[in-house]
Amino acid sequence: MTTQSAPASSALPLDMIIFGGTGDLSFRKLLPALYMAHLHCNLPPDTRILTIGRKPWSREEYISEFMETKAKPFIEKKAFNAAVWDKFLALFEYVRMDVDSPEDYARLAEVSRPNVCRVFYLATSPDLFTNICNNLASAGLIDENSRVVLEKPLGHDLASAQEINTAVGKHFDEAQIYRIDHYLGKETVQNLMVLRFGNPIFGPLWQAPYIKSVQITVAETVGVGSRAGFYDKTGALRDMVQNHLLQLLCIVAMEPPVSLDPDAVRDEKLKVLRSLRPMTPEDIARDTVRGQYTAGTVEGEAVKGYLEEDNVPTGSRAETFVALRAHINNWRWAHVPFFLRTGKRMQKKVSEIVIEFSELPFSIFPNNGRNYGNRLVIQLQPEESIQLQVLAKEPGSGMHMLPVNLNLDLQQAFTERRAEAYERLLIDVIRGRLTHFMRRDELEAAWAWAEPILEGWAKSGEKPRGYTAGTFGPAASNALMARENAVWAEESQ
Ligand code: BG6
Repeated sequence: MTTQSAPASSALPLDMIIFGGTGDLSFRKLLPALYMAHLHCNLPPDTRILTIGRKPWSREEYISEFMETKAKPFIEKKAFNAAVWDKFLALFEYVRMDVDSPEDYARLAEVSRPNVCRVFYLATSPDLFTNICNNLASAGLIDENSRVVLEKPLGHDLASAQEINTAVGKHFDEAQIYRIDHYLGKETVQNLMVLRFGNPIFGPLWQAPYIKSVQITVAETVGVGSRAGFYDKTGALRDMVQNHLLQLLCIVAMEPPVSLDPDAVRDEKLKVLRSLRPMTPEDIARDTVRGQYTAGTVEGEAVKGYLEEDNVPTGSRAETFVALRAHINNWRWAHVPFFLRTGKRMQKKVSEIVIEFSELPFSIFPNNGRNYGNRLVIQLQPEESIQLQVLAKEPGSGMHMLPVNLNLDLQQAFTERRAEAYERLLIDVIRGRLTHFMRRDELEAAWAWAEPILEGWAKSGEKPRGYTAGTFGPAASNALMARENAVWAEESQ
């Protein structure tokens, strides 16, 4: 699949139109990110922000009830400037609409200006995407300068994702569609490309048999919070693995792209997704672990179990934890297991990629029976750092070796402000840069691999395993590693 180059509409005035303009994502992420873009002069001079919601608010009520009360607290204190905030608020219009009612789009058409670049940000449930796009088209609001941003998860399985893609594709060319995965907007994730493809030292070693295994962990301490309505239907595999973790896996595993052009990068990620070994029912039973947190203590605070959280249906089987072993069937990665793990209410918040290099074929040093290999730990969150574990001689008379870290603290190396992922990606949308967004075939390939796992779990009739909040998940997740002679990074420190 190729994408025609994005239309050159960035010079036009901008109408940023946010569906779901009164929702969680808007006040937590999108509006604070737009404020930051405005503060740093990254919005086109003649920008307006049209937020859409069902609440019967006037513009003034939207500003006071929503912007001031809900969105403002999510702006970093040190970045807040009252005069800039007032100017930012002046960009806003609130449009009260029922997005399923075609008549209401006339109201939007009245407010939106002609000859502008319209960016439609669909921060709603994906079930609404098709209707919204059809209605926008009927109201004559889509033209060659328009763009649409689709929030994840796009669909709940392959068929629904295809259906949405087809429906959206009737009105927008692929080059106008921005499927967002905010992990691709993280500075650290973008830096992974530089680490891999900008440093010749890693190139020759970045493959089997020099790499023995790869671990990708995205652990969160938060629970489901107020999102049970969404989360319980979704679960960790759809919420995190199908998108964020697979995207990280792609960046670790992809071949060097021929350039940084959107299609060059996305072609390589697609090849990785298509090379993922499909999981059979036996693989699913052996190589995947689902968990659900029970009451415990996280960061010193007693917390409820998932089943006791507000709005979680009795006896819910939604997984809040997943660990699995994946394989990539290609020359570079033959027989190298990729261990993926994510969970809520875990012991600590950490997102990291651990590249475990193979051991020496033979060691001339006494090693007390331990066989160390080198290990590269790329921490994405909460701190951005890269550590290379190497062996050094322990001071003393013998030749004993111990692992020590070559430590690169990127916070110290660069003191510049790091834009938050949504800010960076919104600016990409405004400037028509597609590299860090998913293409249709990529997204569908990710679903094609993930869906059998969901089906396998449903067929097995088993419940997710309980794990105490504040731990690193069910014991079965360690057993999964042990079978491969591996341990999760925190177990080997
Ligand atoms: C979102 C998920 O996509 O990513 C959330 O829907 C999750 O459940 C969040 O908490 C994690 O993002 P981050 O940037 O905090 O790691």
